[in-house]
This record gives sequence, structure tokens and C-alpha cells, in this order.
Amino acid sequence: MCGISGIISNANIAKKLLDSIQNLEYRGYDSCGMAILNSHGPIIRKNIGHVADVAEKELFLSMNGNTGIAHTRWATHGGVTPVNAHPHANCDGSIAVVHNGIISNYVKLREMLTKKRHTFLSETDSEVIPHLIEEYRKGGMPLESAFVAALKDIEGSYAVAMVAYEKPWKIFCGKHESPLIIGLGKNENYIGSDFNAFIEFTKEAVVMDDGEYAIVSNEGYAVKKIVNGAPVLKKVMHVEWDAEMSKKGGFPHYMLKEIYEQPETVKKALSISDASIQMLAQNVVSAERTYLTGVGTTFYAAQLGQYYFASEAGINVPAVSSDEFLENSAMAKGDFVLAVSQSGETYDTLRVLREAKNRKIRTAAIVNVIGSTMARLVDDVVMQGSGPEICVISTKAALAQVIILIRTALEAGVITGKLRVSEKKQKIKQLEALPQQISDFLNEHSGFVHNLAERQAHHHNWLFLGRGKYYPIALEAALKVKEVAYLHAEGMPAGFLKHGTIALIDDNLRSLVFIPSEKEEALYKMTMSAVEEINARGGKVIGIHSSKTFAKSKLLADQLLLPPAPPLVMPLMALVASQLFSYFLATTLDRNVDKPRALAKSVTVA
Ligand code: G6P
Repeated sequence: MCGISGIISNANIAKKLLDSIQNLEYRGYDSCGMAILNSHGPIIRKNIGHVADVAEKELFLSMNGNTGIAHTRWATHGGVTPVNAHPHANCDGSIAVVHNGIISNYVKLREMLTKKRHTFLSETDSEVIPHLIEEYRKGGMPLESAFVAALKDIEGSYAVAMVAYEKPWKIFCGKHESPLIIGLGKNENYIGSDFNAFIEFTKEAVVMDDGEYAIVSNEGYAVKKIVNGAPVLKKVMHVEWDAEMSKKGGFPHYMLKEIYEQPETVKKALSISDASIQMLAQNVVSAERTYLTGVGTTFYAAQLGQYYFASEAGINVPAVSSDEFLENSAMAKGDFVLAVSQSGETYDTLRVLREAKNRKIRTAAIVNVIGSTMARLVDDVVMQGSGPEICVISTKAALAQVIILIRTALEAGVITGKLRVSEKKQKIKQLEALPQQISDFLNEHSGFVHNLAERQAHHHNWLFLGRGKYYPIALEAALKVKEVAYLHAEGMPAGFLKHGTIALIDDNLRSLVFIPSEKEEALYKMTMSAVEEINARGGKVIGIHSSKTFAKSKLLADQLLLPPAPPLVMPLMALVASQLFSYFLATTLDRNVDKPRALAKSVTVA
């Protein structure tokens, strides 16, 4: 995915346009560029690298003008090169375009345009857009019609913005399956892939829907339908997030800041109305089958949800990774699909929900980003209210999602009769104690976690093992370490180890084991078998556990002692500890914590 933005103002926009793509950088950051109109037409400057570096190299701040668009890229078609960076222009340089998404028929369009003597400079799919518009203009079409005609020609997904020499006081934009939002300011207006593009400048926004295009000036905007040009009346939204929430606030990285925000995010997730949770629970219980889905971290959140539905409500609610969902699950009418997504824009998860809609299956989603495609697509949405998560690595949003799923499982437990109301209340109390426990842990134990990471960061191969609810925690913890520390970490059920992977155990492989408290006797004993098996083969175990007596055990080569907590919330403490561990591994290894290589915050492509 990529980030696009645009500003039109009666003042010079260079600085604000740069800020806007800087705030979108988590959507992709291999290259970037800006196009600002001056009296000769759009001036395009772009290059590879992070926004701050390119801005310096290409002197973004020396640009000058009132109308402009910008882009920060996560490459899909064409390598990371200066020419593949956006904006792209037409042959005579009078039109500049930025695009987020994938144009599936670009090869055919490019061939057609090449025959008509258009010259392409890049390998991107996006470059066909300015040339298509130019082609329609040559045929005598007015600019607006030419823009719309080009949108009609392209297949796939897009959010597109254009500026052109002949209409210096307008930004044209349109969307299909990639997000696009208009921000409304005073004597200036904005467009962006999400609110972060203009959150510093305004809180008033209009969310565009698929099949719409807009013409934005510094004084207003008009939204119309691509299919027939009919005007669309849009609701103006007030965005609760404020610019401060998107800043680092004294923390060296967003990742650390967001880990430390978790007591607040848990409180927010606990303050979601009972009615919303009951609605989800009712849907889960009354459906023929319920599927949980998400991908990456949100799949692991969903998987953890599956364990809680089993333990708290006694029902089987499979979690299926959304990238594989349609191929391995036979959802049918009467089923219920509950998706989990921080961004609400992830292609794989949207694909499942769109297909569910086609099959007339009820859908709901737990989503963080207000106005996102998923939030608007599903029958029921629960907004998790975690605030902006800027680090590409998801931490606070994932924990909030798990809290919401646990609340839903508890509610479902009451409906199925597995839990008495009093038991549910007691468990909710345990959840309510979590923010303080996390806060204490972060304040008192982060030094230990830091030291542990420093001692262990030179090991390049890891197994992360857990049983029961600690299995999805192990998977998520391993994903974090891969994403942010670039170390090989394989998450696995501790019971699965003996069925093959145990052959890898030697002095070089580190095994991080999530050990439940002795109170969960069966789980504890089974996890300990794995610890013994590893030791018996000369392997080294790093334990994450909460037992003071066990802390002296010779079976552990190193350890992280968690404060005690009830079994319901202990896996969540382990999750927070593992987030912090991956953070400190990454800082010890001098990784780019907030923008790890090759990743993007939400992946809006197949
Ligand atoms: C990308 C991100 C992951 C994230 C996944 C799902 O792959 O790099 O960190 O877990 O998308 O994103 P979502 O926004 O749907 O939660």
C-alpha cells in the first residue's frame, strides 16, 4: 500500500504537504515525491528513501505553490527506483498523478497507449493514468470528463489524485477499493489516504465511497459518482483523534509509546458499551457457524479469541487467516463472520467480508480506524477506540482487540449458560485490573526486559513455544521479533515440538517458552514437558513465567519473571512482555523500529 495526500490553499503548501506524507509514511516508505503547481505546470520532485531524506535531497521545502499532491510508496509494480516513485506525469508534463492500489489491466492499457505514441518512463502500473487522461484530452474532452473516463478504464483498486496545469485551483481525485478522505479546512482543503494526512490541520472530514470522485478547491469540494457524474451529498465527520495523539511525546519510538499506551487502550476497550458487545455475542451464539478472521497480528488476536470462546463460552469459533479463508472455509447463509483489523483496509480481510456479503452472510468487524472501508462495509462494527497506531508493528491495537473478543466470549458464555452472571462479573473485574497491572509491569520490569534482550540479541534462531492460550501468544511474539528485529523466530505449540522440530534443538537454537502458572496445572505440566525435552537435548530455554519458586530452576538458561495475575489475563501480560522484548531486541540490534524494512502498516493488495 501507499499513502497519498493533496493540499489546496491560498497560502504556500510545501511545508504542509511534506508534513502530510511524513504522517502517512507508515503506509509505505521506500520512496516518495511531491508535485506542486506553479505557473508553468506541476513541478515534480521524487526519489527513493524515507520522506525526511528525500525531502532534504530534493529540497521539498524550496518548492512553492498553492496546489499539490504527494505520495509515499510501498512498491508493488516496479522496483524501488527514483523513476518508479510517484507522482507520475503525462508526456508533456502538464498532468501529475499519484495512485494507491493496483491496476490489474495496466499491461493492456500501456500497450494501447504506447501504440498511440505515449512514452512511459517507469515500470509502474500507475503511470498509465496520466497518459490515459492525456489521450482523452487530445480527443477534445474537458479535463474533468477525461479524468473520469480514465478512472472508468482502469480495473483493480485505486485511490487517485491529479493536479493539472490547465486547472491550477483544483485537485481531482477518485477511489475504488482504496481509501480516500477529504479534509476540510479554512481557505484550504486536503485529501489523504487516511486522517493522519491532515490531522494536524483539521478535524472535519468527508469519507469518500467506492465509485466516487471529487473536485477539491481551496474553498470547497464536490463529490460525484464516477458512473454518471451525479452529485453525492456527503456527511461531514468530526474526527476525535488529535494531532498530539499522533506524536511521539518524549518516547524514542512510536512502538514504545504505543506499548506504554496500553493501559489506556485496555480501558477504552473496556468502556465500549455492553450493548455493542452483547450484539456481537448474540450473533456469535445464534449463527450456524461463526468464523473469526484477520491476518498477521490480527489473525493471532482472532486465534486467541478462539481459545477464549472455547474456555469461557464452551463454543467452537474457528479463527481462519483471511488470506486463506475463501479457499479453506465453506461459509454459507446462516453463518457469521467477525473480522478483526486495525486499519480496516487490509485487502485479504476485505476480500473475505466482500464475499460474505455476496453470499448474504452476516458480518461484523472490530476495527480501529474510523471511516475505514471495513468499518463501513460490515453489518455491525465495533470501533475499538485505540487511537492512532503509527508504528508499523501493531501492539496496542492488537491488545484492545483481544480484550473486546474476551468480553464477547464472556457475554457469549452467559448466553450459552457456561458462565453465571456473577462469574462473568468477576472475570470482568479481572480485566478491569489489567491496566494497572500493565502499568506496574512497564514501570517496574522494563529494565529487566531490556537486559534480557541485550543478553540474547546475538542469537539468530529462535523457537517460541506455548500451549493453550499461550500458543497464539507465542505466534504473535515470534511475528513481532521477525518484523522488528529481523531475527528468525518460529512460533509453535509447545506440544508440537516433539513431533519433528525437536530435531533442530542444539546449543545454538534458543527456545523462548511461555510457561503458565502452576495454578493451571494441566497446561503447566504439559508445557514443562517441552522445557524438559529441550534441556535433555542440550537446548537453552528462556522462560517467560510468573513463578518465584520456578525462577530458581536449573531448566532455565534465562528468564523473564512476570507479576502474578489470574489465568484469564496472564496471557495478556505475557503478550505485553513479549512486545517489549521484541522492541528491545530491535533497539539492541539497531533496527528501524517504527518502519521496519519491507513492511507496510496495512497491506491493501492481494
Ligand atoms: C500488515 C501489517 C501487520 C498487520 C496486518 C493486518 O501485514 O504489517 O502488522 O498485522 O497487516 O493489518 P490490519 O490493519 O488488518 O490489522
